[in-house]
Amino acid sequence: MSISPIAGRHFVAGQWLPASKETFASRSPANHNEVVGTFPLGTPNVAHDAVAAAKAAFPGWRRTSRIHRGECFDRLARFIDRDTDNLAKLMAHECGKTLAECRAEVIEGLHMVQYVFGTARMPTGVIVASEIAEKDAFVRRKPKGVVAVITPWNFPFAVPLWMLAPSLLEGNTAVFKPSEDTPSVGQRIVELFVEAGFPSGTINLVHGDGSIGEALVRNPDVSVVLFTGSYDVGRRIQQISADFFDRSVAAEMGSKSAVIVCEDANLDLAVNAAVISAFKTSGQRCVSAGRILVAEKIVDEFAKRYAASVRRLRVGDPMDAQSFTGPVINEGACEKVLSYNALAKQEGGEVLVEGGRLSDASHKNGYYVSPFVYRMEHGSKVRSIREEVFGPHVALIPFKTNEDAVRIYNDTDYGLSMAVITESFRNMRLFREECEFGMGYVNLPCIGAEVHLPFGGVKKSGNGHPSAAGLVDVVTHKMAWTVNHGTEIKMAQGLSADVG
Ligand code: UN1
Repeated sequence: MSISPIAGRHFVAGQWLPASKETFASRSPANHNEVVGTFPLGTPNVAHDAVAAAKAAFPGWRRTSRIHRGECFDRLARFIDRDTDNLAKLMAHECGKTLAECRAEVIEGLHMVQYVFGTARMPTGVIVASEIAEKDAFVRRKPKGVVAVITPWNFPFAVPLWMLAPSLLEGNTAVFKPSEDTPSVGQRIVELFVEAGFPSGTINLVHGDGSIGEALVRNPDVSVVLFTGSYDVGRRIQQISADFFDRSVAAEMGSKSAVIVCEDANLDLAVNAAVISAFKTSGQRCVSAGRILVAEKIVDEFAKRYAASVRRLRVGDPMDAQSFTGPVINEGACEKVLSYNALAKQEGGEVLVEGGRLSDASHKNGYYVSPFVYRMEHGSKVRSIREEVFGPHVALIPFKTNEDAVRIYNDTDYGLSMAVITESFRNMRLFREECEFGMGYVNLPCIGAEVHLPFGGVKKSGNGHPSAAGLVDVVTHKMAWTVNHGTEIKMAQGLSADVG
């Protein structure tokens, strides 16, 4: 793949900082001999300088016209549109998703930016009635201040834009810490913001490992932390943030999502939805299905068709249009998937499609793992069907009644995404009302959300502050504003204004 390696820099207070001595390399998961770029390893001091720059830029930016802030996003959208192909190639090279998936992700990021531009001219508050005729009462929003944006490698373009775009439109300023597995894509995002004319200090970039995230979270001048990643890190961010009195944290943290295939399902559609849900992005979406729950009466037929369809999936070079999926992100991810495959067997899973590391000539330099499918009875102590694997690993779990399916679906610590495949509106309603999730789908895969919907989950999946269009509530605070147009004071609730 011929993309010249990127020389990354931190971006603080409108300046690309000089190259630093300590660096780290980003390598392609499709071929670990290929260096995608070299990046400065940030230190807590750089993180604190970035917060100070964002804090200094905040008063000026929040006083800028909302329409003007929106217009910066119009320019950003045009530059993303112009660069779609190059961004998709860079992303495929750096995170190993297929080019087609990367293209879709760039478009998803573009949609977020277009959404934000569109909302710039939409109403921002509400006017409510007062008990007193002469009073006007308003609900308005104000930005909160400095937002720390800490993002994962699996959606290195769209997820940062879900967070950065609404934050900046509302008048906040940001420090962005991309995943150390995808710093090149993070770098390109900030270059595009700079080109679009966002003023100095409104967006800052610090590369590095978890110590940068930790420094940002410990900085008292950070008013909002937006995080997508593991439960353990999300929990730690929330624990540290409890010491900062009015900070808000939106944490989106993984899942054991599921597709529920009812007895009346259209089987072709069900197989298709279950393949996409489990194996797009090599199972590395936070919404990826780790479980396919199938009505007992149809499970044999479903399993036969599903296994046949999965065996046809091609795992290979992300740049090759024939590949359904590319590699997983790194060696650790390979080992994790293989260890859960072994665990599923130990726990009594019946293997339907044997998955494993691919090591022939065309795969040997990358982190390629083929899909693994097993059939397992549900059990509350079976770890392989309760814990998140984040790879091409899925269980088919039979259920007797729809009520059993609800119970099985809810019997994990997570609650992010679910899909139900049914022709019955009664089934659909049961699952909508009784399952614990943030995004639900009917006759669709459990992946593929659009940006104008809130995106987030419940339980260990999230703290109920969704990303994308749902983020405005997290990055602003609402205030009440009441004006008296009369010449004397009249109090609400019948309170006397007579002072004697
Ligand atoms: C993720 O799962 O990590 O809903 C993000 C989807 C995509 C975003 C996924 N729009 O599948």
